[in-house]
Amino acid sequence: MDARSSTFETLSKRIEARTARAGIIGLGYVGLPLAMAVARSGFAVTGFDIDPKKVVALDACRSYIDAVTDEALTAEIEAGRFSSTTDFASLADCDVIVICVPTPLTKHRDPDLSFVEATSRSIAAHLRSGQLIVLESTTYPGTTDDIVKVILEETGLKSGSDFFVGFSPEREDPGNQHYHTATIPKVVAGDGKEALSLMKSFYGTAVSTVVPVSSNATAEAVKLTENIFRSVNIALVNELKTVYAAMGIDIWEVIDAAKTKPFGYMPFYPGPGLGGHCIPIDPFYLTWKSREYELPTRFIELAGEINSAMPRYVVGKLAEALDIRAGKALSRSRVLVLGLAYKKNVADIRESPSLRLIEIIEERGGRAAYHDPFVAEIPPTREYQALKGRKSIDLTPEAIAEYDAVLIATDHDVIDYAALSKSAKLIVDTRNVLSRLGLSADHVIKA
Ligand SMILES: NC(=O)c1ccc[n+]([C@@H]2O[C@H](COP(=O)([O-])OP(=O)(O)OC[C@H]3O[C@@H](n4cnc5c(N)ncnc54)[C@H](O)[C@@H]3O)[C@@H](O)[C@H]2O)c1
Repeated sequence: MDARSSTFETLSKRIEARTARAGIIGLGYVGLPLAMAVARSGFAVTGFDIDPKKVVALDACRSYIDAVTDEALTAEIEAGRFSSTTDFASLADCDVIVICVPTPLTKHRDPDLSFVEATSRSIAAHLRSGQLIVLESTTYPGTTDDIVKVILEETGLKSGSDFFVGFSPEREDPGNQHYHTATIPKVVAGDGKEALSLMKSFYGTAVSTVVPVSSNATAEAVKLTENIFRSVNIALVNELKTVYAAMGIDIWEVIDAAKTKPFGYMPFYPGPGLGGHCIPIDPFYLTWKSREYELPTRFIELAGEINSAMPRYVVGKLAEALDIRAGKALSRSRVLVLGLAYKKNVADIRESPSLRLIEIIEERGGRAAYHDPFVAEIPPTREYQALKGRKSIDLTPEAIAEYDAVLIATDHDVIDYAALSKSAKLIVDTRNVLSRLGLSADHVIKA
């Protein structure tokens, strides 16, 4: 057996026997649930993060991610299968290292790969023969091979013989009660056939279905395709919403009827705009990369344009409703924005259109407050610094009645919508939740 195949065979056997140690870098929405799934499948897992507060919380068996309960975390820690650290020297002890760090956009909406690059350098500083390095962060095709692998090979070690490199996109859906890390099929790829084989066996232990593809770039493209598909389809229904509204047609009624078609149609729903860490951002990773090939990504740009125009459209509808129904200008009105999180039943406000709604209402001279059962206070954000520190108001009948309008931006399930409807003077519903609950009324308009 030559040195190359012995490195591969040794790692392969360690993965199969679950004696390999896994290191997960970036213990956020993606990394922590993944660390739990890998630990549960029998591996010893070390979690790495640059944020010492996260490590302190985890050491105290306190999870800060909804998808991971304190009990689940405690079980893995007590079983000796999970620990976390800020000390990257321990990377040398890991046989499989998975990178789950952020991939945001810069101020100029270009990919910001600084986190991926910094992490690759941390790994390179401790790289040794016989490790599998996996990127899970969402990114444009070519990142794993052209950036991660290149940084790692600067050590003099070679991908495919000394160490192995793979990509596997994350498909976490925060708040989803039916699917979690272990039950969502996982696309895997590797740089070369040995890397792919290691990827299949590593992920095969932690998730129920593994979907191998031929290259890291293909796997990177799979993730972008999934998110572009959502962004474009949401933009389409948002555009149809505005057109049908002008015609007096209810888009939600149209979608409910259209989705009875048993083939060739998939329902997407309009809303106040896109939110979350993925859908508003990831498509632009492809737009940026396509420029290198002098190819436009018109669907992506158009979807971005339509979706980001939604908060202004919704506030326009709110102003119109106040005007017509209450004879009151938005500039003299108090508006309660219901739901700050970007989607229902979660606490995540990243890129949430609710923040933009508040900003536009106030730009137009109105006064805005918010209620969100999951977000007690607005944390510091890069874009909405003026909103920092505002607190969620209590949703009492008296408080509701003080507002000229309630703008439903997020349809959290725990809200008592019947009570809300009783106390509110005017409701602008961007999620169709009142109609869905059979609470349509004269003072409820859709936007
Ligand atoms: N949140 C989702 O639902 C979701 C879904 C699919 C894919 N993704 C992708 O997964 C990746 C991670 O997203 P997330 O939502 O988990 O982000 P997150 O912000 O919740 O977590 C990232 C973590 O990485 C840590 N970190 C940053 N730089 C680091 C470094 N150099 N070394 C170690 N740790 C570092 C941060 O402190 C943070 O704890 C992104 O590429 C994202 O696009 C996210």
